[in-house]
Amino acid sequence: MEKEQLIAEINRLRKEKNAVILAHYYQVGEIQDVADVVGDSLALAQWAEKSDADILVVCGVHFMGETAKILSPQKKVLVPDLAAGCSLADSCNADEFGKFVTEHPDYTVISYVNTTAAVKAHTDVVVTSTNARKIVDQFPKDAKLIFGPDRNLGGYINAVTGRNMLLWNGACHVHEQFSLEKLVELKKQYPEAKVLVHPECKKEIADLADVVGSTQALLNYAVDGEFTQFLVCTESGILHEMQKRCPHKEFIPVPPAGRACANNECDYMRMNTLEKLYLCLRDEQPAIEVDETIRERAVRPIHRMLEMSK
Ligand code: 13P
Ligand code: SF4
Repeated sequence: MEKEQLIAEINRLRKEKNAVILAHYYQVGEIQDVADVVGDSLALAQWAEKSDADILVVCGVHFMGETAKILSPQKKVLVPDLAAGCSLADSCNADEFGKFVTEHPDYTVISYVNTTAAVKAHTDVVVTSTNARKIVDQFPKDAKLIFGPDRNLGGYINAVTGRNMLLWNGACHVHEQFSLEKLVELKKQYPEAKVLVHPECKKEIADLADVVGSTQALLNYAVDGEFTQFLVCTESGILHEMQKRCPHKEFIPVPPAGRACANNECDYMRMNTLEKLYLCLRDEQPAIEVDETIRERAVRPIHRMLEMSK
C-alpha cells in the first residue's frame, strides 16, 4: 500500500475503533506525524493512565506498551512489533534484580521505567529521565536507595543530588555509543552550538554538555531558548520534532563511535513502521499481556511515580 493510503486507513481505523496512537520521540518521523500523542516515556505513561480510548496503540518499545497495559488493564494495548525490545531493560534480569533487592532489605528501590514489569514488581518507585531528579530529591538525604538499571542515569542523579545510591550495572547500547572524539571535533567545528545530552550517555559525554536532560527537557531547551545551533547526543529520532518545532534552527546529530557520519538510531525503535502500525490497528494484534499477579505489584510503583512527579 502507498504511504498516503496507509495514512488514510490508519485514520479510518482509529476513528472506527476509538483507538489512540501514542508515539515516542524516537519513532520514525512518519509514525510521529500520524500519532495522536508524541512524547517521552513519562508523557506516554501519563496519557495511558488518563485516556478514555478503547484501544491504545503504543509506538515505542515493549516496556512502553507494558507500562500502558499495567496502568490500563481493561484496555487493549497494541504494539506494532512485539519484538521491539530494549537493551537497557534487557540488562536487568528480574530474578537477579530481585535477589539484589532481597540482599538489601533496608533500601528503597528506585527503577527507571526502561524495565520489564517483573523488575517493576520488585520496585518501590519508578522514575523516568524527566522526573528522576525530582523524585530522588523527595527522599531524605540519608535515605538508603537502590537505583536500577541505568548506571549512567544513576551516576548523574547521584552527582547532581549529592547521593550515594547503589547502582545496578546496566546501560543503553545506543546512548553509550556516542563518540567522544567526534563530539570534541564537532564542538571545534561549531563553537557556538549548544551541546544537548541525554543522561543515559556516559559521563565523559555528559561532562561536555550545556544541558543534560530527558528527551523532553532537551526539546524544551531547544525550543524555548534563544540559541540556534545544537549538537544532539540522544537517539536521532528526536531531531524530527526539534526541526518541526524550530525550522530555522540547526540540529546536528552526534554520530556513534566507529561510524563517522551515521545517525545514532535505536534499532528496536526503528522496528516499527507505518505498515506495521496499520496492520496492528486492523488486526488488533500483537497485544501486550501482563500476568495479573505481576501487574498488581508493578502498578504501585508506577502510580507512586505519577503522584510524586505532580
Ligand atoms: P525518555 O523518553 O525518558 O527521554 O527516555 C529515553 C529512552 O531511551 C527511551 O527509550
Ligand atoms: Fe532502550 Fe536505548 Fe532503545 Fe531507549 S534508545 S529503547 S533505552 S535501547
